This record gives sequence, C-alpha cells and structure tokens, in this order.
Amino acid sequence: MKKILDLITGEVEQVFAECGYDKKYAKVTLSNRPDLCEYQCNGALAAAKEYKKAPFLIADEIAAKLSDNGMFSMAESVKPGFLNLKLEEGYLAEYLQKMQEDTERFGCEKADSPKKIMLDYGGPNVAKPLHIGHLRSAIIGESIKRIGRFMGHTMIGDVHLGDWGLQMGLIITELAARKPDLVYFDETFTGEYPKEPPFTISELEDIYPTASGKSKEDETYKEAAMQATYELQHGRKGYQALLSHILNVSVTDLKRNYENLNVSFDLWKGESDAQPFIPDMVQKMKDDGYAYISEGALVVDVKEETDTKEVPPCMILKSDGASLYNTTDLATIVWRMEEYHPDEIIYVVDKRQELYFTQVFRCARKTHLVEDDTKLTFQGFGTMNGKDGRPFKTRDGGVMRLEHLLNEINEEMYQKIAGNSSLTDEREAKETAKMVALSAVKYGDLSNQASKDYIFDIERFTSFEGNTGPYILYTIVRMKSILAKYRTLGYTVEDAKILPAKSESEKALMLEITRFSAAMESAFAETAPHKVCAYVYGLANAFNHFYHETKILAEEDKAVQAGYIRLLELTKGILETCIDVLGFGAPERM
Ligand code: ARG
Repeated sequence: MKKILDLITGEVEQVFAECGYDKKYAKVTLSNRPDLCEYQCNGALAAAKEYKKAPFLIADEIAAKLSDNGMFSMAESVKPGFLNLKLEEGYLAEYLQKMQEDTERFGCEKADSPKKIMLDYGGPNVAKPLHIGHLRSAIIGESIKRIGRFMGHTMIGDVHLGDWGLQMGLIITELAARKPDLVYFDETFTGEYPKEPPFTISELEDIYPTASGKSKEDETYKEAAMQATYELQHGRKGYQALLSHILNVSVTDLKRNYENLNVSFDLWKGESDAQPFIPDMVQKMKDDGYAYISEGALVVDVKEETDTKEVPPCMILKSDGASLYNTTDLATIVWRMEEYHPDEIIYVVDKRQELYFTQVFRCARKTHLVEDDTKLTFQGFGTMNGKDGRPFKTRDGGVMRLEHLLNEINEEMYQKIAGNSSLTDEREAKETAKMVALSAVKYGDLSNQASKDYIFDIERFTSFEGNTGPYILYTIVRMKSILAKYRTLGYTVEDAKILPAKSESEKALMLEITRFSAAMESAFAETAPHKVCAYVYGLANAFNHFYHETKILAEEDKAVQAGYIRLLELTKGILETCIDVLGFGAPERM
C-alpha cells in the first residue's frame, strides 16, 4: 500500500501542475502545528520566487482546488502562503480499512530489492558467563534482525562466539592443575576421548575466573596458559578434544540464556571457525603488496587523507607470527563472503570498538576481501550505566551476571503483579511476570538511540506508566480484555467496517495508525529500533486517549460499536507486530 503521505503529496502535486506550477513545490509533511492542521505544504512560498507571484495567491489557488476533492475535509491557505490540510474522515477510514484487510503487514510493503544481510551480534565469550555488557548487543541485534526480516530482507544472525585465544589456554591450564589425571593431558594417549565432558557448567564458570586471576599474579602460570593456547592452536589432540567439550557445555548454557531473552541466532560460528582462512588471506595480502613488515609485525596501512584523527595501520600478524583479534575478524569476513556472499554485514558491538572496526573495514575493502558494493556497517552501542551515571555494577561493585540481573527483575515484577492483579494462579503470575520483566528490560534499552549511553533505571523501566515496555503491554492487555468482554456480550464484528472518526481523539488515533509503514521503513533504513519504540509509544498513547473519551462497550449504536472494535483490533495488531520486532510479546492478562 502507498503511504498516506505519498498519496497526499501525489494529489497536491497534481493540483500544482493543473495550476501551472512545478510539482516539485508540492511536498507535504506532517504538520508541526497539530492544533491547526494535520498536514502542511509550504511549497507556495518557494514557488512564489520562481513565478514572481505573491505566495498567498498561489496558496489560495491550490487550496480552492484541493477543497473540492474528496481527500481533504479542510484545505486552507494561511498567510503568507502556507497550505494547511486536514484529511477527510471517510477517506481516512477507507485507508485504514485497507490496512486492516492486509492482516499481517497492515499495508507495509516489503523492500523492492531484498538484500542478504549478515548480522554479527551477541559476541559472548566461551566459558565466561554472560554479563550485562553482552545484553545490549543481544537486544539491539535481535531487534535489527527482526525489523529487517519484516521489511523482506534475508537476515542471517551470527553469534560470533569468542572461542579463540588465551582464555582457552587458561581453562586448560587450570583444569590440568585440578584434574591432572584426565586423559586429555596424556600426550601418549591414542584412543578415543570420552563423550562426557570432564566438568559441569558451574565448574567451568569457576575455572575461568580462577585461572584468569592466577595468571595475573603468577608469571609462570601465565606462560603455561600461553603455551597451552599455542599447542591447542597448533593441533594438540587432547586439547582440541577439551576445546570441543568446553564449547558444547558453554554453548548449551549460552543458548538457554539467550532463550530467556527471546534472542536466537541462525549461526553459532565462532572466532575459531575463521582460523583456517587466515593463511591464504595473509599470503594474498602479502602477494598483492598490501601487507608489509613494520617493526617486525605484518601490517596494512588504512589511513586516508581526509582523516581528522589518526587511524593506525591494521595489524595482521604480531612479530612472533601470532594472529590477532583483527586477523580473526578479517578472516571471518572471508568465510562470510565465500559461504553467504552477503550484500551487507552489520556489526552490533560496543561503540568503544569503533576505531577498531574502521581499521578492519578499511583493510577488508582495500585488500578486496569484499566487493566494492558490499556494505560494512558498524552499529555501535553506548554503555549501560547505573543510576550514579557509571557503568552498571552489582551492589558490591562487581560485574553483574546477566542471569542474576534478569532473575532479580523477574522476582520484582512477580511481587508487583502478584500483589496487584487478578492473576491468582501462581504459574500464570510467574510466566506473566517474566514477560513483563523482559519488556521492561528490552524496551528500556531499545527506546534509547543505540549509540547513546543510557541509565539502567529499573524502577522507571518496570513502571506501568510512561514510556515503558510494561505500559505498552498494559495497553495491549486492555485491548484484549475489551475484545473478550465484547464477545461475552454476544457480539461479533462480522463484516463491520472502520467508520469515519466521530471525535478528535478517534481521528488522532487513526492518523497515528497510518504512520505504521513509515515508522518501520525508517527504523530499518537507519538501523534504529528506537524509532519503532517511539511509534509504539505514540500509538499506545493515542489509543488510551481515545479509550478514555469513548464508551466502547456501552455504545448503543451497534454499527458504531463494531466500528470501534475494528479500529481497536487494527491498533492491537499493529502494536503486537511492533513489539514482536522489538523482541518481546504480550501476556493475556496482567
Ligand atoms: N567477543 C567480543 C567481546 O566480548 C565481542 C565480539 C564482537 N564482534 C566482532 N566481530 N568482533 O568483546
């Protein structure tokens, strides 16, 4: 379906042309004076110069023609030459009716040329528990993925596990200290390694911090870990068998955690999957003359003339020949291009890695790891701060584990819900609390522009009032309950239609509804889930305003009532679609 603004612009363009003016002056926008009109066109002011005519004369002429056409209930020219427009109620109702008939997309068209887009998000590290630093990547990335899918693109989400490097050597070293008799450490062993992992997830989660702590104090311990890392990366069998146990145990746990966040990935590839692509890639960079030795290290220059800040060369190999985080990211681009050939790769990573990604992207482009038209996009996100404005911490100042944080919020929400609502069944109350808590956390995050820091204010996020997830869910639940009551009264809407608005608040709601596809489109174009949030909030407000001024269930005229119900259903459908792309859902009651 065409967007309503485009339809209006089309109409105004035609009238400009009929009156002998260039249609480029006919651009219509949403009104910035909603008290005066709904849409406006300021083109007469600009046209006045070209046609050497007083702007209000042009505006008068256009307004007179627009007044006779069925699209507007008001087309007014206002000095010095503004055109103020209001949409005709019947026209608006019909437009909404068409939106409603498109039961899943509500008139939002898919992209004309769908793209294949890979999304690098999540970025958890194996054997380290998820902490709140990983929360934003998961929440924002998941939403971008869903918005893209809704717009008709092929979105491939890859978790890009941190499963390479010293942390693996640390775990192996600590495990060797704790259980030296394990067959994995016996270099003479030639049989098959056990299928059962030699540790549980909680042991594993204890092993890593212990090892990391020890390595900071004990030089020989650190050297042992580096040695183990080296041997693992150079094919020592027992260590590789351990690695796959570490991966399995860790990934199972990560999946459970992400599931609680309603986040899922299409690919569970990791840094280790990129390693086989490194030797050829490095060779080619050398052969093509891009990579050269500088102070022992192999580097590629990536600075550009227009740089205002220094962009250091991209280091490909350290002087001891070891690869780096960079090398892995570049090699990951290689396999992604080989296997998927995406039109774009979007990275949802902490914005403090921005310079790093500038280097990686420039290097990938310069050395032709990607096509000239492959887009590489860095969607950096800001820090989640506590109320004191500093990075969010536990009460005793430690790094907060994601699981603990979510459990705490679930529990708080349960207390709130169990105390206040009609939900007497404990299981339902718990499930509902979880859904509402998730909306609080996700909406609290997504409603901010991703690149900005924000304050994780759980009191505000969990409030049922204001710009919060629970408020949106509350609005949807209210709609569900009105619909259920309507049905118990024995009514059905059958082939009832949305009727022309009879009140200001009803019309305001209807106009808000028409903005759905524009909101989705811009959220995708700007990888900006906060635009969906802003839309959802405006729509929920418009509905609640309408609801408070309108007696829906007590309406005596059954056709009018059925029209209200249709309008409510449409609003609900759109709200549900929006929260689905934000990555949460609404309960039946709360
Ligand atoms: N594992 C990294 C971390 O915890 C994030 C990975 C981001 N993605 C990437 N392609 N480098 O900081």
